[in-house]
Order: sequence, then structure tokens, then C-alpha cells
Amino acid sequence: MSPKPEQIKTFIEEELEIFGGPLYMPEQSENHDMETRPLSKEIQSLGAFEDEIKNCLNCELGSSRNKFVFGVGNPNADLMFVGEAPGEREDNEGVPFVGRAGKLLDDILKAIDLSREDVYIANVLKCRPPNNRDPKKSEIEQCEPFLLKQIEIIKPKLLVALGRISATTLLRTKDSLTAMRGQVFDYHGTDMVVTYHPAALLRNPNWKRPAWEDFQKIRDMYREKRGEQA
Ligand code: URA
Repeated sequence: MSPKPEQIKTFIEEELEIFGGPLYMPEQSENHDMETRPLSKEIQSLGAFEDEIKNCLNCELGSSRNKFVFGVGNPNADLMFVGEAPGEREDNEGVPFVGRAGKLLDDILKAIDLSREDVYIANVLKCRPPNNRDPKKSEIEQCEPFLLKQIEIIKPKLLVALGRISATTLLRTKDSLTAMRGQVFDYHGTDMVVTYHPAALLRNPNWKRPAWEDFQKIRDMYREKRGEQA
């Protein structure tokens, strides 16, 4: 029996997650006539910043989203997670990682003695791409300054990119997840490590063991950076 299209899609996604692939999917339409506004330099609180950008229409995702998904967690967090983009649940609720992948992320955090209240969680894109397609280059260009501003306000000591797309996008590389795991990168002055996306762990439970090793390292780095015993 030949595989169903859904099975083929999942297989390709899993291969890409581990072995890498093209950084960006082919652009569809670059034409959108929405206005781009510069960010206010003086804003220094997350709430004020959210108010400034929550009605963003800088790219086409602004008109298809249900809710703008700014971020959640401790505004003074030393550890910040960066996912790819909101999914359906997140788009409905306006909060990142609230679906099945989010539940797994919560469980992993618990296993390293942390909770959502200790860390900050955001995405590269603040609006859901239709049908969860990969972010377009133009969308990343519009949205990444928002993430940078969040990082500037929160000042985390350690960033964790969740999944290959988040990592390759932020680090401007085409490396595979395997090549990036275990390295410490500099993302605009903040240390960044890379691990599996929780959704990938749901698709392929064999990756839970290496992911657990990553999270133990993340816990140790986090504690060390806070001057706590690792
Ligand atoms: N996947 C992500 O990358 N981010 C979310 O917020 C939810 C799922």
C-alpha cells in the first residue's frame, strides 16, 4: 500500500528537522502594501511594547491572524525559549505553546525544576502562518526586530531556539539540527543553544532521549549563569 500524502509530509518534516534543508520555503507573494512603522526606542516595558505592536499589519499574516501572540512568562527571566510561530491553538488563544507541544514543553520544564512563570516563551513570528506553513523570509524580516526588542527588555542570560526552523532563521544558517545541538551561539550578544522543537518530539519519541540530554545541559547552563550550583 502506498503512503498517504499526510504520512509523506510528516516524513519529510522529520527528515528536515534533523538533517536540515533549504532555509526558507520559496516565496509566494512579496507584494503587500501594508505600512511598516519604526519601533519606538524609548519603550522599556514588555506591556508597553506589546501595546505598541499588537495591531501590527507589517506583513500579510496580520490580516489572516485571529490573535497576535506576543509572548508569555516572566519579564525578568534569565532563560528564554524561542519557537517558530503560533499554531492554531495559539492563534485562537493569543498565548504561545498552549497546544500539545506546549504541554510537552511544560512537562520538560517541570523535569528541570522550572515552570512557565520562571522563563519567557516567545516565537520568531507573532502571527500564525496559514496552515502552519514555514515562515517566509519577508515575514521574518518584519517580525525579528520584535523578538530582538523583547530580548533587549527581558535581558535573558540564555536563549533556547526550539527546532531547526527557529534556529536556522535566527542564526542565518542552513545547518542541520544535529550540527547545531551542543554548540553555544551568540545571538546579538546573548548566548543561544538549540534543541528539538517539542512538536518534533511528539512526532518522533526516539528524539526524547537526546532532547532530555539537551535540557539537562540547559538547566546546568542556566544555573551556572545565575550563580547557582549546577
Ligand atoms: N509551535 C511553535 O513554534 N510555537 C508555538 O507557539 C506553538 C507551536
